[in-house]
Amino acid sequence: MQSKWLTTLSLCALMFVALPARADRALATAKNCMSCHAMERKLVGPAFKDVAAKYRGDKAASDRLTQKIMEGGVGAWGKVPMPSNPQVSEAEAKRLAAWVLSQ
Ligand code: HEC
Repeated sequence: MQSKWLTTLSLCALMFVALPARADRALATAKNCMSCHAMERKLVGPAFKDVAAKYRGDKAASDRLTQKIMEGGVGAWGKVPMPSNPQVSEAEAKRLAAWVLSQ
């Protein structure tokens, strides 16, 4: 009985975690991020997992990445620049930065 409850509870928790993550993935796809980025491997830009690993524990990273997602930039990962993304609002950039950092 108790374990059934626990299963239900953890399923609910999983859905809470999984649904926004999928929405953010869809946002990244819609905003064209995934044409240069992948989760696990480098394409034109760094893998989002590598970005998350690089800034783990860096409290300022979220603000910095929000800015960089909107304005683009170069030098953190090599010589290939990321172009600015004017199709992304500040709120969306914030969400994408948080999502990337959570990978
Ligand atoms: C035209 C290809 C391209 C597109 C489109 C693109 N990126 Fe990038 N991105 C790059 C490159 C190249 C870098 C590495 C820049 C550097 O070395 O500083 C990068 C770096 C990043 C970083 C790490 C920045 C840092 O300072 O460490 C994040 C986060 C990121 N991109 C997110 C996004 C998101 C979110 C989008 C969609 C809105 C996006 N990118 C769209 C090419 C792209």
